[in-house]
Amino acid sequence: MASNIGICLIGTKFMGRAHSNAWSSVPNFFDLKTRPRMEIACGRNARETREFASRWDWARGSTSWKTAIRDRRVGLVDVATPNNLHADMSIAALEAGKHVACEKPLAGTLDDAREMARAARAAKKRKLRTFVWFNYRRCPAVALAHQLVKRGKLGRIRHVRAVYLQDWGKADTPLLWRFDADVAGSGAHGDLNAHIIDMARFITGDEIEEVTGAIEHTFIQKRAVPGGGGGAISGKGGARKQARATSTVDDCVLFLARFAGGAVASFEATRLATGNQNRNCIEINGDKGSIRFDFERMNELSWWDDTLESGLRGWSRIMCTNPGDHPWVEAYWPPAHLIGYEHGFISMSADICRVLAGQRPVVPIPDFEDAFRTQRVLEAAIMSARETRPVKLSEVR
Ligand SMILES: NC(=O)c1ccc[n+]([C@@H]2O[C@H](COP(=O)([O-])OP(=O)(O)OC[C@H]3O[C@@H](n4cnc5c(N)ncnc54)[C@H](O)[C@@H]3O)[C@@H](O)[C@H]2O)c1
Repeated sequence: MASNIGICLIGTKFMGRAHSNAWSSVPNFFDLKTRPRMEIACGRNARETREFASRWDWARGSTSWKTAIRDRRVGLVDVATPNNLHADMSIAALEAGKHVACEKPLAGTLDDAREMARAARAAKKRKLRTFVWFNYRRCPAVALAHQLVKRGKLGRIRHVRAVYLQDWGKADTPLLWRFDADVAGSGAHGDLNAHIIDMARFITGDEIEEVTGAIEHTFIQKRAVPGGGGGAISGKGGARKQARATSTVDDCVLFLARFAGGAVASFEATRLATGNQNRNCIEINGDKGSIRFDFERMNELSWWDDTLESGLRGWSRIMCTNPGDHPWVEAYWPPAHLIGYEHGFISMSADICRVLAGQRPVVPIPDFEDAFRTQRVLEAAIMSARETRPVKLSEVR
């Protein structure tokens, strides 16, 4: 007999929509022992929240997340708000005895992230679980890369080359919360480097032990103050005020790092890589083979097998859509009937439900403790850039 768990979502825009779609779709695709029940969606504007709840099939809307998280029908709180709110909301939910699934980065600041990891450790003793929506781990191609490394197919890893390139942050993009350090913590760094640090740690199974150098740069200092509205990530279509104000975050951060296992790595995140709209890419080179992934072709993983005889070596393009061979795919469509962005969130909510039912996730799922490790790398890179020196992760606690 399946049981169910009541979900309370906080945040109703980009991620609020992606998570709502995941919670409502997951029981259709997956056989779950614990199924989500969409109880409460929390927003700030009463009318908009009501409309959102009705459109996405939440039982009710609320403009008070503090009351909603204590509702006895709620078992898991899903935090999909700007980064400065993650700590207050997640810690309050854990203290109210609820499991928490929080968006990435874990927090805007290392201090907040540390408090969240501490609260999660304490809550674990009360059997409460935490999850962080590093959704790219749940692309079948990325999970396959993780499995190939685990099976030794790449051999000893020497290079990790990761970039996350977007181009929506041009001069005409208004000063959204993503450009306010008090709210976001950082710019492209926490937004995009967080994803590729997590992916690199996940695929290699290794930890970064030193950031050897970094650049943090803001090209566009002043932006128009938004007047509200505008649905897209870039705030396009929203009203503008005449006023302009200062962006307090980076537009790009690049850094070099060393892994404990000996691999060297480079990371680059920017919102100003003209022509690159969502190029979340990673290449890993080992002494037996290499893999390459580009989210703009998310169903594919490129693999070079260096153990083949030399005349047969070449990049093979694996279509990661084989039910039974590739993670989660059996829940969706036949081979080469492609999946998209939303499936990462659906598969993640399936794995959250599996964990809550006492089962193992298909591949490891990051909790607050794990995401805190990623946050420490983010911090080390910023220290390295600002102090122009190498920073050992042991310095960042
Ligand atoms: N996993 C991913 O790939 C991914 C992608 C985009 C964003 N994110 C993360 O998701 C989080 C939200 O980003 P987004 O793009 O959805 O932002 P958004 O601006 O589209 O939505 C933020 C939501 O939070 C709500 N909110 C703000 N302050 C609030 C408060 N005090 N109380 C209740 N609700 C409040 C807003 O009303 C809005 O509904 C961020 O942490 C971001 O880094 C993750």
